[in-house]
Amino acid sequence: MPIKKLRDKKKQIPKKYKEHKPKAKKKEAEGKDHGQGEKGKRAYNVLRGMHDILPREEKYWKPMFNNAMNLADHFQYGRIETPIMEEVGLFVRSLGKGTDVVEKEMYVFENDEIGRVCLRPEATASVARAFINGGMWNYPQPVKLWYWGPMFRHDRPQAGRYRQFFQVGYEILGAEDPAVDAELVLIAYNFYKDLGFPVEIRINSIGLPEERERYKAELANYYRAKKSYICEDCRKRLLKNPLRLLDCKADQCQPIKDEAPQIVDWLSDASKSYFMKVLEYLDELGVPYNLQPTLVRGLDYYTHTVFEVYPAVPSENPGEEKAQSALGGGGRYDLLVEEMGGRSTPAAGVALGIDRSVAVLKHYAEKNPLNLPKPVYDIFFAQLGDRAKGRALKMINDLRKSGMKIGFNLYKNSLKTQLELANDLKVPYALIIGQKEVQEGTIIIRDMESGIQEIVDQKKAENIVKKKLKKFDDGDK
Ligand code: HAM
Repeated sequence: MPIKKLRDKKKQIPKKYKEHKPKAKKKEAEGKDHGQGEKGKRAYNVLRGMHDILPREEKYWKPMFNNAMNLADHFQYGRIETPIMEEVGLFVRSLGKGTDVVEKEMYVFENDEIGRVCLRPEATASVARAFINGGMWNYPQPVKLWYWGPMFRHDRPQAGRYRQFFQVGYEILGAEDPAVDAELVLIAYNFYKDLGFPVEIRINSIGLPEERERYKAELANYYRAKKSYICEDCRKRLLKNPLRLLDCKADQCQPIKDEAPQIVDWLSDASKSYFMKVLEYLDELGVPYNLQPTLVRGLDYYTHTVFEVYPAVPSENPGEEKAQSALGGGGRYDLLVEEMGGRSTPAAGVALGIDRSVAVLKHYAEKNPLNLPKPVYDIFFAQLGDRAKGRALKMINDLRKSGMKIGFNLYKNSLKTQLELANDLKVPYALIIGQKEVQEGTIIIRDMESGIQEIVDQKKAENIVKKKLKKFDDGDK
């Protein structure tokens, strides 16, 4: 809820908690049976703009998380988790009063004890706060941090826009070096490239505030002369925050935007040469990029380099490209830590939207191969009979401790079904235990390819299986 409105609403909040039933859907909500539970009981739906991440999505989410973590390890970022709830002021001061996120999209709550708090719409401001609170300026600089977690924006729900969404972010605090900017672009690029998904980097420099102020004045002059041709939103932007004029996606404003003065012409020589150095590094890294003079980003804390990541897949629907949403974005924010009350600390970062990336990758995977590693199991454990089930669970747990990854389904009683599952998991061996084996302290090892079975002592099974699996590690297949 916009902050302004919250104050007026405060008095209306009912004292006693009542279960909320959406008016229009009241009847439906009271009587619908969704195939679960008693008829006549209300079935709850996930909130508008939010979504469940179901196990079938795991094949996208898990590689993304693993990839994010591997990149963090390789590039030496330490994990940081900040709370989901923060003081409202943290974001108002850092992202800027006139930004869409602060004006329209924050979930704000009034709380007698802790004052006005909100669900974090992003994490860079929280990281800057934590850098100060945690005394991280005393650490060897720069400090490299990464995070993975949910963000909240009360956005109008539409394709790729959610009210709760995950971001992975990488932030480097304490270094003013074009190599930092290039490293962050590289990480964003690698994140998708490693998964087999092609992306495009759009990049620009917005210089320092004083350079930007001069540019803003020029931009405002230019737009004022065209006021009668621009959209309603742009008229507001012109008054409140002229830089946001460049974010406009309305068709009627495009020709005006295309002819608008470009910020790069207002940059000092030092800012220009900083940006050139970033581009030189990207050239050397072989990261393809497009210079985008209208890219200014929707948050106020940026200085110098700003960039966004887009799918490099031509849209199937003509004309859709310009409306395509960014998968990620970032840039330099040299003044933020000081603005938050800390020491002057140059910094830069990037955040990638996971829900949006999953949606785009899923669509791409319908026709193209992706590089999504599948889970690999070493063996399958099958059982027959109640006593065997108990022993099987114990042995599975013991083998797990030895580092083996074991497929099993103790809830299927047919051996045939269990062996079919073993085949699906493509394991080279299955261990089979029945009543007889429990009594005799033995277990059957079945070679899944040849079907040959041998009976071994249960106590020796772990070593025998390990030896057999070793020949696969050695490449002797
Ligand atoms: P942002 O551009 O606001 O930047 O968000 C980064 C990414 O989060 C977007 O490109 C998008 O993929 C995802 N995202 C944003 N809003 C939504 C939404 N409503 N639904 C789904 N996905 C969304 C930041 O948040 C900055 N903190 C990035 C940064 C880090 N700058 C420096 N360090």
